[in-house]
Amino acid sequence: MGIQIAPSILSSDFANLESEIARLGDADLVHVDVMDNHFVPNLTLGLPVVEAILARTDRLIDCHLMIDEPDRWAPGYAEAGAHNVTFHAEAAAAPVRLARELRRLGARAGVGLRPATPVEPWADLLPEIDMLLVMTVEPGFGGQAFLDVCLPKIRRARELVSQAGLDIWIQVDGGVSAETIERCAGAGADVFVAGSAVYSAEDAAAAVTELRALAQKAAPGH
Ligand code: DX5
Ligand code: ZN
Repeated sequence: MGIQIAPSILSSDFANLESEIARLGDADLVHVDVMDNHFVPNLTLGLPVVEAILARTDRLIDCHLMIDEPDRWAPGYAEAGAHNVTFHAEAAAAPVRLARELRRLGARAGVGLRPATPVEPWADLLPEIDMLLVMTVEPGFGGQAFLDVCLPKIRRARELVSQAGLDIWIQVDGGVSAETIERCAGAGADVFVAGSAVYSAEDAAAAVTELRALAQKAAPGH
């Protein structure tokens, strides 16, 4: 699949989501951060807003659920038509069952790891998922500083995926910018979430193009 850029609308103007999504140029995915004020201290939006977004755009929607009880709530996002639904490893009661349910409903299944959550316990479960999300900040807020300590985990995730011979995307989220994206790509990430780096730029579409070029140049094997 190659390098993909997924701007996060968390840093956009929530009163104008349709036009904020329209100005993302050739972004591959639109990353939507769902926060419930329980799994993380912040509160953003939920299924009704995701449904409204899906009704107004043909872009592929990547839902990042930072919520408790994803076993209960995540399938609704797949049913609504999200391209990808990521739940957090720390929150899921039955992650294999949930991932299978998401796929059955037609979505890609993603698993998110907070900075302190190891990837190794997922080695045997990789065939059940389509994307691993390695958080490079503590989830909850946009605009935080990138955590370099997460880079070795990206590398290990890439090794596990390669060893398993699977085509699983490795997404990074948090503090990804023109300053940090090359390190992430070099470590083996291939899907890059960027909130403030895209929406604080004067030209969001140009920021997407720049991030993609940097990641492509830094990707292993380039
Ligand atoms: C944070 C969210 C991110 C956020 C990233 O918990 O998961 O998707 O939008 O924002 P930046 O790119 O500004 O760090
Ligand atoms: Zn996110």
